[in-house]
Amino acid sequence: MHVSDAIAARKSIRAFLDTPVSTPLLEQLLLGAARAPSGGNVQPWRIYVINGPAMVRFHEHLNEPTANESPAYEIYPQGLTEPYRSSRFKVGEDMYQLLGISRDDRPARILRLMENYRFFGAPAAIFCFIDKQMGPPQWSDLGMFLQSFMLLATEAGLGTCAQEAWATKAETVARFVQSPAEEMLFCGVAIGYTDEQAAVNSLVSDREPLANFTTFLD
Ligand SMILES: Cc1cc2nc3c(=O)[nH]c(=O)nc-3n(C[C@H](O)[C@H](O)[C@H](O)COP(=O)(O)O)c2cc1C
Repeated sequence: MHVSDAIAARKSIRAFLDTPVSTPLLEQLLLGAARAPSGGNVQPWRIYVINGPAMVRFHEHLNEPTANESPAYEIYPQGLTEPYRSSRFKVGEDMYQLLGISRDDRPARILRLMENYRFFGAPAAIFCFIDKQMGPPQWSDLGMFLQSFMLLATEAGLGTCAQEAWATKAETVARFVQSPAEEMLFCGVAIGYTDEQAAVNSLVSDREPLANFTTFLD
């Protein structure tokens, strides 16, 4: 598969088959993703893999009662301005429309949102952490690692969905993976074989035209 094909084929998958994912395959994808560039080659990603019996234990862990926790970081800036605000709104509305969930059906929307905390039924996942001393440059390195991982997963026939939703359960996740105090959670990535029958997976999100995000100087 050419890189351009993997880029075109990758999209966020939000319904998975229960077909298991092999741990050696995950190892191979992580090793490949670690070829991503990072400023000064600091390689700031710290990854925890949840697969097989660990996934069963993780779901049990999630069911244990916990105190309310505050998000690890602010997922979107407060008062997000245009055009970013509309973009965010549109992808959500497109998804709910595909699922036949109307704008005023709040309970159905909340139930759908809660699917995040089941990894959308994915049998495997990774959590991506970073040392708290790191700043925006190193966080962007995480993005490169994650995109490399998702493209390699696409090539291997797997579907993925990056999930910052887990930032709202960062303490619960940290307790389970036993990450050291100096690390913080960035996001989870749901991993598995795509349920091609699920309407939600037919979503192809919009992109801004080139002229909206690029300036060619004379
Ligand atoms: C870092 C990151 C975090 C994300 N978090 C979530 C999430 O919590 N839940 C979700 O359903 N999608 C999440 N997404 C998926 C985005 O909504 C998706 O990438 C975007 O709408 C573009 O669609 P595409 O991935 O299908 O191209 C996340 C994507 C990224 C890159």
